[in-house]
Amino acid sequence: MSTSDAGRADKPLRVAVLGCGSVGSQVVRLIDEQSEELAARVGARLELGGVAVRRLDAPREVEVPEGLLTTDAHGLVSRPDIDLVIEVIGGIEPARSLILAALENGASVVTANKALLAEDGPTLFEAAEKAGRDLYYEAAVAGAIPILRPLRESLAGDRVTRVLGIVNGTTNFILDRMDTAGTGFSEALEEAQDLGYAEADPTADVEGFDAAAKAAILASLAFHSRVTAADVHREGISDVTAADVASARDMGCVVKLLAICELREDADEPAVAVRVHPAMIPRSHPLASVREAYNAVFVESEAAGQLMFYGPGAGGSPTASAVLGDLVTVARNALAGARGVGESAYADRRVLPMGETRTRYHVAIDVDDRAGVLAQVATAFSEHGVSIQTVRQEGRDLDAQLVVVSHEATDAQLSATVETLRHLEIVREVTSVMRVEGESE
Ligand code: HSE
Repeated sequence: MSTSDAGRADKPLRVAVLGCGSVGSQVVRLIDEQSEELAARVGARLELGGVAVRRLDAPREVEVPEGLLTTDAHGLVSRPDIDLVIEVIGGIEPARSLILAALENGASVVTANKALLAEDGPTLFEAAEKAGRDLYYEAAVAGAIPILRPLRESLAGDRVTRVLGIVNGTTNFILDRMDTAGTGFSEALEEAQDLGYAEADPTADVEGFDAAAKAAILASLAFHSRVTAADVHREGISDVTAADVASARDMGCVVKLLAICELREDADEPAVAVRVHPAMIPRSHPLASVREAYNAVFVESEAAGQLMFYGPGAGGSPTASAVLGDLVTVARNALAGARGVGESAYADRRVLPMGETRTRYHVAIDVDDRAGVLAQVATAFSEHGVSIQTVRQEGRDLDAQLVVVSHEATDAQLSATVETLRHLEIVREVTSVMRVEGESE
């Protein structure tokens, strides 16, 4: 490892890039195109030492200088002249083994790998700590948007109480189309696929797996606790109907897939609640204005109040921007023989099960239109200790639709209420059930 020598301005820092897909190729391009600027900002030249790919002959967006491409990623990260490693392969393996090998070899690492960080972040953080090197990952959440550094550094003296994020562009595009064009989920998904926003297999996005990984990373940083993807309650958007979206519109709301991370001090002991699900938010909420495939993260903290971070959450070039920002930081640290901030998990807060999480619900119910019906519906709510905030009735020919919005109650109480409603003889159908977020009670 040559980092100690690299303090000399005439000696370059050598960078290995693992993966040369849409993000990796833009990273390689920027390292080349911005080389003068990067050298001035870092204090030493950043020199590409190698680019690991699966196939040497695959078509790629950037021309990699002769001799730098290799299929031997393990060999590349083990080379003694490699100072910094950028991992943009994604997935769990071989990314995890490569990052661990790079750290063990004395290199600092920049990664965009949300799935790996959310599944096994502590193993990586411990390896970085042991090696005395940096592990930075701004690009893992919300692409180009600077959000991890603000949580980790800018807000380090404050107390973050809630993070609400639109952190998946594919689902935001689909829900936005459903809202603006009145289309159903399948039609909006097809459009997202035609435009290249959604993958041929859209499961990771539409079922909320991608957002759940990002929620785990956000919650860990915001609340100084270890939160993994398995701790995150996850619901996707494939069951959101045109009726849900229309119902939200009638209430002055819009449906968004939210990653919600909350500090809950009302539990027996301070805890965190982390969940990803579709929710109605008021159109006046700043997150409601996040359209198409954009991302945004809304942070509430005690001293700062409310902050919003907005921008492109995916794509080769925007994601590469975040990677390069981290690259400059870890390169400066390596030159100075220093480390940036490592993992901060001292608070070690319990993660609340979803049933104990407090939410509000919007419930639309088709009922018979006759005396006593409203009373029975209200009784179902009160039986489970759920207080009703508003009720609206729309008359139809022989039946009516009731739209009930509850006050905050636990998710378990609210789910039980909906179950009871479904079994009432006067209820024809519970047509829409959705949580309501973005308003404090
Ligand atoms: N597929 C993600 C999205 C981007 O749609 O936002 C990568 O996390």
